[in-house]
Amino acid sequence: MKELQPLFNFDEMATKNANSNGLTGQNIISVDQFDRDKLDYVFARAREMRELVQRVGGCDLLKGNILTALFYEPSTRTSASFIAAMERLGGSVIPITQGVQFSSVSKGETLADTIRTLEQYSDVIVLRHPETGSAQMAADYASIPVINAGDGAGEHPTQALLDLFTIREELGTLDGLKVAMVGDLRYGRTVHSLTKLLLQYNVSLRFVSPEILRMPLSIMNQVIDAKVNVRETHDVADVIENADVLYVTRVQKERFSDLSQYEQVKDQYEITTELMGQAKEKMVIMHPLPRVGEIHYNVDKDPRAAYFRQVQNGMFIRMALLAAVLGKA
Ligand code: NCD
Repeated sequence: MKELQPLFNFDEMATKNANSNGLTGQNIISVDQFDRDKLDYVFARAREMRELVQRVGGCDLLKGNILTALFYEPSTRTSASFIAAMERLGGSVIPITQGVQFSSVSKGETLADTIRTLEQYSDVIVLRHPETGSAQMAADYASIPVINAGDGAGEHPTQALLDLFTIREELGTLDGLKVAMVGDLRYGRTVHSLTKLLLQYNVSLRFVSPEILRMPLSIMNQVIDAKVNVRETHDVADVIENADVLYVTRVQKERFSDLSQYEQVKDQYEITTELMGQAKEKMVIMHPLPRVGEIHYNVDKDPRAAYFRQVQNGMFIRMALLAAVLGKA
């Protein structure tokens, strides 16, 4: 009798984890940690995770591991997708998310003490915090890996990895693309991380923003140093016809000290079906979400609208990252 082949070889998966491209035990703080080799590795693992979820839903690779999700800022997708990723791999989660105001954090406990406490219970900490640099600070105190789930207007590396993966899966390549980013390029951490990652590929960049929300100089300087073709404009009409990727963002209200300035720029860009009529037939429109009016709902039916596929890719990427960071042999 022919022996049935298992759908997945979990021993092989575990061995792969053992040499997880230098990611085992590492913090994930910035996209600067990822060269093309590491990116290829994470994307290959994310494809395996997609296949695993589609075929059998999950496995026990991270059984016995605990993730603490510590979110000092609101989150729907990032926290849920880390939780789903951990649970699909058989691990468990301590969620300290929307309820931080009920925890000792609201009693004035320092981030350092909170981290040094939570690491006693868990194997990895996922942190979202309103201050730029907080993830690195937490990592300096922690003896277990810390994953940055957004540090103020700084970085959002796992979002950028899932964004890059989505572009690659939707368009089949990253090289040669024209990527237009629209909206709040000043405070939007996702566009900061994504821009830095894209510098490793042969792309052209178009930055579309109101004057007061232009891409920060520190990132512009990196773009210029990388000799990447880049142009800035205030008008989506300047970029819509040639863009392979239109990456739209929300104006980050919570980062404005002067709300009257927010009121001036909040409704500047709206992607409509009419505007999409001017875009290429093969291109993608993306958004890290949440959207607050930047993309009209009737654009959702457009096959080029990739933002909900982007959400699902987030889970596969985070499964791949957790498996790598926790390196179970
Ligand atoms: C983004 C964030 O938190 O930076 N959301 C997300 O993680 N998907 C974008 C945003 O809040 O506008």
